[in-house]
Amino acid sequence: LEILLKGLRRLEYRGYDSAGESDGKSPCHQHALACSSGLFPSLSPHCLPDNDIDLDVEFDVHLGIAHTRWATHGVPSPVNSHPHRSDKSNEFIVIHNGIITNYKDLRKFLESKGYEFESETDTETIAKLVKYMYDNRESDDISFTTLVEQVIQQLEGAFALVFKSVHYPGEAVGTRRGSPLLIGVRSDHKLSTDHIPVLYRSCKFKLKNDTCLFPVDEKAVEYYFASDASAVIEHTNRVIFLEDDDVAAVMDGRLSIHRIKRRAGDYPARAIQTLQMELQQIMKGNYSSFMQKEIFEQPESVVNTMRGRVNFDNNTVTLGGLKDHIKEIQRCRRLILIACGTSYHAGVATRQVLEELTELPVMVELASDFLDRNTPVFRDDVCFFISQSGETADSLMALRYCKERGALTVGVTNTVGSSISRETDCGVHINAGPEIGVASTKAYTSQFVALIMFALLMCDDRISMQPRRREIIQGLRVLPDLIKEVLSLDDEIQKLATELYQQKSVLIMGRGYHYATCLEGALKIKEITYMHSEGILAGELKHGPLALVDKLMPVIMIIMRDHTYTKCQNALQQVVARQGRPIVICDKDDYETIKNSSRTIKVPHCVDCLQGILSVIPLQLLSFHLAVLRGYDVSNVTSGSEGTDNPVFC
Ligand code: F6R
Repeated sequence: LEILLKGLRRLEYRGYDSAGESDGKSPCHQHALACSSGLFPSLSPHCLPDNDIDLDVEFDVHLGIAHTRWATHGVPSPVNSHPHRSDKSNEFIVIHNGIITNYKDLRKFLESKGYEFESETDTETIAKLVKYMYDNRESDDISFTTLVEQVIQQLEGAFALVFKSVHYPGEAVGTRRGSPLLIGVRSDHKLSTDHIPVLYRSCKFKLKNDTCLFPVDEKAVEYYFASDASAVIEHTNRVIFLEDDDVAAVMDGRLSIHRIKRRAGDYPARAIQTLQMELQQIMKGNYSSFMQKEIFEQPESVVNTMRGRVNFDNNTVTLGGLKDHIKEIQRCRRLILIACGTSYHAGVATRQVLEELTELPVMVELASDFLDRNTPVFRDDVCFFISQSGETADSLMALRYCKERGALTVGVTNTVGSSISRETDCGVHINAGPEIGVASTKAYTSQFVALIMFALLMCDDRISMQPRRREIIQGLRVLPDLIKEVLSLDDEIQKLATELYQQKSVLIMGRGYHYATCLEGALKIKEITYMHSEGILAGELKHGPLALVDKLMPVIMIIMRDHTYTKCQNALQQVVARQGRPIVICDKDDYETIKNSSRTIKVPHCVDCLQGILSVIPLQLLSFHLAVLRGYDVSNVTSGSEGTDNPVFC
């Protein structure tokens, strides 16, 4: 149990809201280890809430599984903690990292067959499904790996899974698709091989000595299944990284790897690799801080926001959390988006496309100001509360204020079970994964995508909107690759930071879809570099801010090829006329701007209303590099978002 707990503690950096384990007792026994509504419940053995765990008891078992959970389906609670079980006698238990997108259909099917569910999770479906496969097996000698192979053929979405079962004592089976899974191998003795051949079900196989990994002379070996190396590195640095749809089984101290069928180009073996990394390095990957790691996670985090919701083949959007209220929302008179800080900027960024696709008036409000003004709210308003943490006090108070006035409330949060997600009538979970860095980055782009998905849903039956909807959905399809392309500008942006880091101030100007980028870029710079920075609406330049521009003032301008292009060119001329030498973030194919500017950051082109996701990333990177160059520890900045207002950042 101590090994399991320690492994979980090593994964704490990924963030979690609850945890559970199953020791090896037969029948399996489960414990919810910890659960809280904030990040990082304590995993110290002294703080275990489930007091029937006795760390001094000894079992004659060789297999235990444990899990930290970041809630996606169902609030953090003991019953939603993993492992999940097939039935009350724990015939099969499973832990899962990822999201099963077809779990509702599977659950309906299994319930119709009499399986009773006890949690709200997608994962429990897997535990029931493996039992269903076992109960309906064709032959009595079916192997555990075959059962798991049958199960994963029915699953859609992303998963890394580890199973154990009373029917297969001492056996563990792990598999993955879309979520990482590795196997650590520890033995003081020589191993039978350094490559394990993959066994394909299509060719009838029998486990033989040369198809398994084990220590020669039957000496002791330990195997660790983990979602990343930090959980196992203190036991071993020898690991095997599984590939999508690999099914790995440990039985009688032997490890074998199976696949249903061979794909073209598959390498038919998995190598044991020796990791040279330190623990700290593994936790943050090659990144120096969580902020940097999270910036670079954005190609995946936006995919997770869209997973199972956007169908790129038939151009449809499904948001399960809004299903029961969407008709009412479509009938409302006004949308009000309420939030603080970066989350507010996500509202500013998507307001225009919301207005376009819903044809409703859309107000975007800072929660504190909204409350200060005693803003009138009516029963036919729909109020959105955008919040990474779901706990920000001003946003929560504004939510209660709107509820009292009878408006329908919708949460857009990254934290299942948070106060905002509990207290709103319905909502969208952005599924960006835990955001540990103080400065919000990937949550912003995921909030952006979530609000766009909502706008698309609102007009899905409007014939006149279909060409625009298709254009945006196909834009979402290519978004992850375009984000990767922007991230490849990192070296160039770091170089720019070396030229700017000693300045006192940076002005960021833009308009239309990119006004939000200006505000967000300036917030990031203020927050983590302690430099002054201001986001300026380019249309307001001549009404005052132009006075700040001279040949010494660093100016960043965002000019994209949309309906504001000519006006932005005018703003550029005004800045240049005052001897400003702006750095322009522009479309990589905009030769006109590239020719006329002394310095450009060239980003790929995408649909106008998504371009703000691509224009903000250079500023996230710039603020990060500026902070590092100015000597601040990006992980420990004490920004305005710190404090009791927002527990996630404490
Ligand atoms: C900026 C930042 C803050 C938060 C704000 C709201 O990088 O992180 O401005 O965006 O405190 O927090 P949430 O989104 O948790 O409500």
